[in-house]
Amino acid sequence: MEKKSIAIDGPAGAGKSTLAKMAARHFGLIYVDTGAIYRCVGLFALKNGADTRDQQAVSALLDQVQIELKYDEQGVQRMILNGEDVSEAIRMPEVSIAASNVSAMPPVRAKLLSMQRDMAKRYNVIMDGRDIGTVVLPDAGLKIFLTADAEKRAKRRYDELQAKHVETTYEDVLQDMRMRDKNDSSRAAAPLKQAEDAVLVDTSEIGLEESFERIRELISGRLGL
Ligand code: DC
Repeated sequence: MEKKSIAIDGPAGAGKSTLAKMAARHFGLIYVDTGAIYRCVGLFALKNGADTRDQQAVSALLDQVQIELKYDEQGVQRMILNGEDVSEAIRMPEVSIAASNVSAMPPVRAKLLSMQRDMAKRYNVIMDGRDIGTVVLPDAGLKIFLTADAEKRAKRRYDELQAKHVETTYEDVLQDMRMRDKNDSSRAAAPLKQAEDAVLVDTSEIGLEESFERIRELISGRLGL
């Protein structure tokens, strides 16, 4: 039977992963966090001392990168990079920038594309990223473009990092976020943009509960779940 798929795109910190995880649990879907896959490439480049803005240097490493997605008993996605669980390591702020840098490179995107499409062929998925509705799953049953003001997104991301005891300041997080927004939206290869047939959900003025309610209604309405 044809698998159902939901695409959620939007800038960093809009709440994509939190809401997608909630929806996955509620509707019994597999949540695929595609940013985590780009983060693995970014981490690998950093570990190997490559300049993450140097396409030649990063491309030369790609053949050595083996990424697996695993799901634990709670259905939480774990990222395995060359046999090592890097699910926590990829969340560090320096990896965010590295991921954003390497994700602008066409050879990196080409390598990761089939992996993402393969997941959607095998499972009913809710997949989040930047180009899911525009490039990875253009025929997704539902596309959501989730966004919020940069200041609100930075505050949420800062609170998350604080909870994990990562030392940083709100100003640094906001600056990183603005830089990534610019990087991700202005690149030539699969830039972040709303697909024409995506539904816009702005979470600047609404909390988690209300955001989830909107998404839940969209999924039930469109996919009959
Ligand atoms: O969602 P995230 O912040 O974990 O993603 C990390 C970086 O990966 C982000 O800055 C842009 C890139 N990315 C992408 O280019 N395409 C995707 N589908 C997902 C993420």
